[in-house]
Amino acid sequence: MDILAFMKQNQLPEKYQQMTKEALEARAQAVKTYFGEKLFILGHHYQRDEVFQFADVSGDSLQLSQVAARQKAADYIVFCGVHFMAETADVLSSDHQQVILPDLRAGCPMADMADIHQAERAWVQLQDTFGDTITPLTYVNSTAAIKAFCGRNEGATVTSTNAKKVLTWAFTRKERILFLPDQHLGRNTAYDLGILLSEMAVWDPEKEALIYEGDVAKIKVILWKGHCSVHQNFTTANIEQIRKADPEMRILVHPECCREVVELADDNGSTHYIIQTIEQAPAGSKWAIGTEMNLVKRLIANHPNKEIISLNPYFCACLTMNRIDLPHLVWALDELAKGNVINRITVAKAVADEAKLALDRMLRLS
Ligand code: 13P
Ligand code: SF4
Repeated sequence: MDILAFMKQNQLPEKYQQMTKEALEARAQAVKTYFGEKLFILGHHYQRDEVFQFADVSGDSLQLSQVAARQKAADYIVFCGVHFMAETADVLSSDHQQVILPDLRAGCPMADMADIHQAERAWVQLQDTFGDTITPLTYVNSTAAIKAFCGRNEGATVTSTNAKKVLTWAFTRKERILFLPDQHLGRNTAYDLGILLSEMAVWDPEKEALIYEGDVAKIKVILWKGHCSVHQNFTTANIEQIRKADPEMRILVHPECCREVVELADDNGSTHYIIQTIEQAPAGSKWAIGTEMNLVKRLIANHPNKEIISLNPYFCACLTMNRIDLPHLVWALDELAKGNVINRITVAKAVADEAKLALDRMLRLS
């Protein structure tokens, strides 16, 4: 689609900006009731409360992929999340199901850090250097084309919940891993599995070069130089300040944070793991959480008997996740009720078939 067509299709009609919150909520509920089980709304934990409340199922990336693969009754899957999640839902859902992302501008900057052409060029160079010794793995926070690249090269996808399992599986197949696009999740996971930092190199897609000092034969993990711009805002300085101000505060972060932050934190895990940990924590316990703002705010609201703060005092928002707001959701639902599917996400069949290979390998291990 050219850029003008994209912008036209994606323009929220004025009337949805004028409607009150109550009117928008009533409309969302009415369309849900009208469609019944033919409409299914998925919501990631980082979504705003105003749309999250309408999700039939909420979850972390792994849970949402599992639900998308299982959910067969709905004709329409509305994804309150970001583009790569909607693509994954399209790949895993059946042919009769249509996936809708209420605002097409809800991308993921990290996913965009690994472009398929860069990955193909990197692969040629890495095969030249290391021969057929590498399994490519990609975090699900990647484009369908990158998932397809992993699928056709005998690799798999991973999420922050199952990364250790998938890396362990990959090491039973070949001696090296190329991990795209999040260097931090890759590094944190490999480190937990006992791989030394000195056995990890970084692939710089801009310079098309391996960043490593020493004997390349020792490299076990090649980390794509990508990162999450939200989680990189949590720093060791934030942790030091909290430790000084209140030594009882436990620090829990997402593994998209950098190695130094994860190292200093008390614990780390996926959004689902963070929620579970807080649910199971005793009343009166104190937590500083290093993850996206909407989830931290929801944890604060849901656990008034625990002291919860953001690890970064200014909170860290994912701008693209926040693009899915109630007006966009109601717009997409209203159009569906009129028989128009807008903001549909489709993955071309050839790409989807190979991406599914990578996703299915992960789902079998999960
Ligand atoms: P999880 O919900 O799988 O932990 O993923 C976090 C994330 O950054 C999604 O974009
Ligand atoms: Fe992407 Fe980070 Fe936003 Fe998740 S939180 S969608 S990884 S930019």
